[in-house]
Parts: sequence; structure tokens; C-alpha cells
Amino acid sequence: MNALTTSIRRSAIGLGLFAVITGGTIALTQGVTKDRIQEQAARAEARALFEIIPEHQHDNDLLRDVVTLPANTRQPASGPVNVWVARRDGRPIGIIMPAVAPDGYSGEIRLLVGLDLDGKVLGVRVTNHRETPGLGDRIETRKSDWVYSFDGRSLGNPPANQWNVKKNGGVFDQFTGATITPRAVVKAVQHSLSYFRQNREVIRERLNEPPSPRNRQLTPEAIAGEANPAEHS
Ligand SMILES: Cc1cc2nc3c(=O)[nH]c(=O)nc-3n(C[C@H](O)[C@H](O)[C@H](O)COP(=O)(O)O)c2cc1C
Repeated sequence: MNALTTSIRRSAIGLGLFAVITGGTIALTQGVTKDRIQEQAARAEARALFEIIPEHQHDNDLLRDVVTLPANTRQPASGPVNVWVARRDGRPIGIIMPAVAPDGYSGEIRLLVGLDLDGKVLGVRVTNHRETPGLGDRIETRKSDWVYSFDGRSLGNPPANQWNVKKNGGVFDQFTGATITPRAVVKAVQHSLSYFRQNREVIRERLNEPPSPRNRQLTPEAIAGEANPAEHS
């Protein structure tokens, strides 16, 4: 009986140790993986930012010059909006704001939309999506040039009713067999432009305020954590 009790106790201790070690290993792996994903996300985002406003066009630390703007009520998560600011000789020349198209074929499509201070598009990049490879993924620059068709556009160019894909009377190409994805992106960019116009005065004020808790200086990793970028692979 004593021998049996000892054996059961040993087995229980063994099992307990096994559970602790396995649990610890899983937690450690998850932690490392999460860090790596965040790091990759931050790198992908930084790349997109510098594509939208290349380094030779600004002289500030774009990655760390982040200003918080009023909430965009048309966005799914409608809290305050953190935007990156490009400056030259201390003067703001453009902003890059995150945007979400909620109505992609497979859910949310995350974007970065760069605008100059007149509300003209400097560039758009997709940072995350789950659209179908070979159909909806032509919104990525590595798959097609489509996303460049926003460059130079503004709220009045084209007129409001033509901010759509050609199939729906707009000026933007759809993809063969895939209209939902490009339409969702077109609408999200148009909404970003509307937000900019509606908030133009407060945006101008905030961009010219000295750094404060509201105009935070964030690390790229922290921003990546908030914006959850990283292009679909
Ligand atoms: C398996 C499958 C995946 C699809 N993936 C996409 C996609 O990623 N993006 C997209 O716009 N359409 C996709 N489509 C096509 C859409 O269902 C739709 O037919 C197309 O976008 C045209 O939309 P419309 O009739 O509203 O113009 C997919 C269809 C199938 C069957």
C-alpha cells in the first residue's frame, strides 16, 4: 500500500512537472512569436510610410512624429486617430493616416492613406488584408499597380459620385472577377478624404502644436501594436 502511494505520488509529481514545463514552453514560444510578428508589422509599416512620403521629401523623424486627431466616426474602431506627420524645415507637409475598409470580400482591409495639407492623396498602401490570392490581392503593390491610381486624387477629383469602380459608374478599375475588394478600398480612401476635409482646421492646429501628451512620440513597435499592420503574405 505504501509502495503504491509512493508510486502514485511520483506519477503525480511527474505529470505536474510535465504540465508546468509544457505550459511554460508554449507561453515562451507565443511570446517570442508575438514579438516577431509585431517587429515584422512595424517594419512593413515603416516601409509603407516611406513609400508614401519618401525620405527626400521630409527632414523629420517620420516614424516618431505622431499626432493624435479627433475620432473618425466612420471607422470601425472610432477612437482618436494617430497620424504620422511629415515635416520639412519644421513645417508640416503631409500626414499619413490609418484607415480600415470594413467591407472587403473577406473582412477588414487595413490601409495607410497619405495626404498633403490641401487634401490631395500622396499615396495609399494596403498593410493588412485577407482577400483571395489571385483575385482580391491585386490591391498589393507587389501584385499590381492598381493602388497607385489614387495618387494625386482629392475629394473633387473625381467628383463624389465617381469615387467607385468603373462597373458602378466610377473611374477606378475593378479586377477581373473581383469587384468587391477594389470597391471597398475606393470607399475607404474617399472616407479618409472626407474626414480630412471635415476636420481640416483642427488638423492644421494640431500639426502645429508643440509635442505634448496628446501629440505623442511613439516607437514604431508601439504604433504597430495599435495599428496592427503587416501586409498579407
Ligand atoms: C472563392 C471565391 C473567392 C472570391 N474572392 C474575391 C475577392 O477576394 N475579392 C473580390 O472582390 N471578389 C471575390 N470573389 C468574387 C465575388 O464573389 C464577386 O462575384 C465579385 O467581386 C463581383 O462582385 P459584384 O457582383 O458585386 O460586382 C470571389 C469569389 C469566389 C467564388
